Amino acid sequence: MAYRCALGIDVGTSGCKILAVDENGKILGSVVEEYPCYAPKEGWSEQDPEDWWNGVVRGLRKITAKLNGAEIGAVGFSGQMHGMVALDENMKVIRRAILWNDQRTGKQCDEITEAAGGLDALLAITNNRMLTGYTGGKILWMKENEPENYARTKVILNPKDYIRYRLSGEIATDVSDASGTGLFDVKNRCWAVDLIQKCGLKPEFFPKAVESTDAVGRVTKEAAEETGIPEGTIVAGGGGDAVISTTGLGLIKPGRVGITLGTSGVVAMGLASFLPNPNGMLQVFCGNAPGTFNAMGVTLAAAGSYQWFRNALGDYEVERGKAEGKSAFHILDEEAAATPPCADGLIFLPYLTGERAPINDPNAKGAFLGITSRHTKGHFARAVMEGVAFSLRQVYDLILSVDQNVSSDEIVLAGGGANSPIWRRIFADTFNLPVRTVYGSAEGGSFGAALAAGVTAGIWPNLEATVPLIRPESKTEPEAANVPLYEAQYQKYVKFYDALKWSY
Ligand code: XUL
Repeated sequence: MAYRCALGIDVGTSGCKILAVDENGKILGSVVEEYPCYAPKEGWSEQDPEDWWNGVVRGLRKITAKLNGAEIGAVGFSGQMHGMVALDENMKVIRRAILWNDQRTGKQCDEITEAAGGLDALLAITNNRMLTGYTGGKILWMKENEPENYARTKVILNPKDYIRYRLSGEIATDVSDASGTGLFDVKNRCWAVDLIQKCGLKPEFFPKAVESTDAVGRVTKEAAEETGIPEGTIVAGGGGDAVISTTGLGLIKPGRVGITLGTSGVVAMGLASFLPNPNGMLQVFCGNAPGTFNAMGVTLAAAGSYQWFRNALGDYEVERGKAEGKSAFHILDEEAAATPPCADGLIFLPYLTGERAPINDPNAKGAFLGITSRHTKGHFARAVMEGVAFSLRQVYDLILSVDQNVSSDEIVLAGGGANSPIWRRIFADTFNLPVRTVYGSAEGGSFGAALAAGVTAGIWPNLEATVPLIRPESKTEPEAANVPLYEAQYQKYVKFYDALKWSY
């Protein structure tokens, strides 16, 4: 049989990433194509699905040059979760997609919870709260605020599902992404039709929900001409990025925790069986292997906070980076590393786009606290990285309190932020645990998407068989002298939200 590979397309927020993995589990190459994000009002976050498609077309054209002659067995997907892509009867996009970090739907989330019969009743149906990020509130928002758009809507898709539609003409989602609509019966892996009707929404908006490794369709002639991917290539189910990144880290066995430092920060682990979600403090979604689940909590602005810092205050580093052929982040990392642990008392709260877990407050705001005249830009850069680590430690503590079976002997760190040695050190010292990176760590959801697509193509019999491919790479041990400093700083950090919330 020919030498084969699988492609993973991750429709992210800052850009799309396309990655190819061969049948030995080796990453043959990856490409990133960026696109803009719009914030037309405070708390709003939108993207144009056409920008995603154009990015994917450019990326697919480039990735085909990196395949070493391997045949593409299947194309898989990962994508920013919860986004609302509304399509009319001709499958044309009606309005810009409303994204996962948009906070406009507080009122609609309350209405949905009420329609379900209260929080306990909602949890009994979906096992999740209706959070402002989720798709359900967005559809109701459109009904209440843009009735003409709502009236034209025939289908609602999540971001990666729209890209699958453009490639194959198939209208579908997968169970992990469907979970993030907040209108899905996670335990039984099907739409919560009764809840959808009680909310005054139409069950026919929602596409069939397949398993992540199912084959859904094939690349059409038209898409083949546009992208350079052979017509007839199998198109797989894929998964929501937060879930399929966990799969790509090999964390499908229960009890091992991974943290992904992308625009958002996700603390997640696989579950072999259903886990009730008391108070809905976590997100418990369907996993990528049939019958499995995934528990997680999300900090909305993780590497997104560092990106904001570079954009707002890093002009000097951007210019210097251009002159020296380095990234501005690399220079900011060096400046941060030159300051002491805990940034001489400076603390950052990363609530730049509100917060989801364990603080669930769409109106929360970011802050720097404890500024003195001794603080330099390096201190601020370090404080941003530390604040993100503290926020994720709070989520981690919550996961430990909900699931007693978590064995916490190390943290697997992934996403673009895992490339930073100083950030890895900060995590090791904050968690007092070794921090590991593994093969594919920095690739985010695209690696998990490619592995799952490899299962669809028959390269591997199931996702379990991909776990040995994910070999350990770096390990950062906690620095004994720093651990008590970080513990004390973390205990201060957790008190600031309550102290400031009156002002939000
Ligand atoms: C997961 C979540 C984010 C987005 C970002 O619940 O909201 O991870 O999927 O990509």
